[in-house]
Amino acid sequence: MVNELSYNTISHVLESWESLRRIAKWEEVAGVCLFRKLFHRSPPARVLFGFPIDIDPDSDDLRFSKRFVTQAMYMIQMLDSSISMLGPDIDMLSEIMSELGAKHSRYGVQPEMFTIMGECLIEMLAELLPNGVSTEAEAAWQTTYKELSQDMIRAYVS
Ligand code: HEM
Repeated sequence: MVNELSYNTISHVLESWESLRRIAKWEEVAGVCLFRKLFHRSPPARVLFGFPIDIDPDSDDLRFSKRFVTQAMYMIQMLDSSISMLGPDIDMLSEIMSELGAKHSRYGVQPEMFTIMGECLIEMLAELLPNGVSTEAEAAWQTTYKELSQDMIRAYVS
């Protein structure tokens, strides 16, 4: 569970997320980068966010779609709120993630999409952070994202 993460793991995650937040227009830049990767890897995710399954993730149609940019930024804001709770509010986080998981099940998000999103998230950080992502930070992200998403996926079967 997410509240079992070590201080060291959380520090790496918070440090790299802060570095992302310092990029100009970070929500848009990070959101578009993340969503393009997600749409490349998971055609069903395109449909979940209201786009045709055959849309080209690299097309200008998508890149300049206001709805695409808004949804991509919204996802970053959602991740930002979860990550901001890794500090003093961490005890509440597992419960919130579990409620969020039940909603995602209703949205039609398949458990394997969480894995894909996690891979895209780490790739996005590696691509955008000025100093990339160290091996320790990558491991910390893998652990943290896995705990966050498992807290959500647990709600699928209960
Ligand atoms: C740890 C990972 C994730 C977090 C923290 C997260 C967080 C959220 C939150 C807070 C919402 C708004 C919920 C509400 O309606 O009150 C949301 C909506 C949504 N999420 Fe996620 N999510 C995650 C992963 C995913 C994944 C992997 C997918 C699919 C690829 C996904 C697809 C969606 C969709 C389709 C919505 C509804 C958007 C809309 O209202 O148009 N999420 N997410």
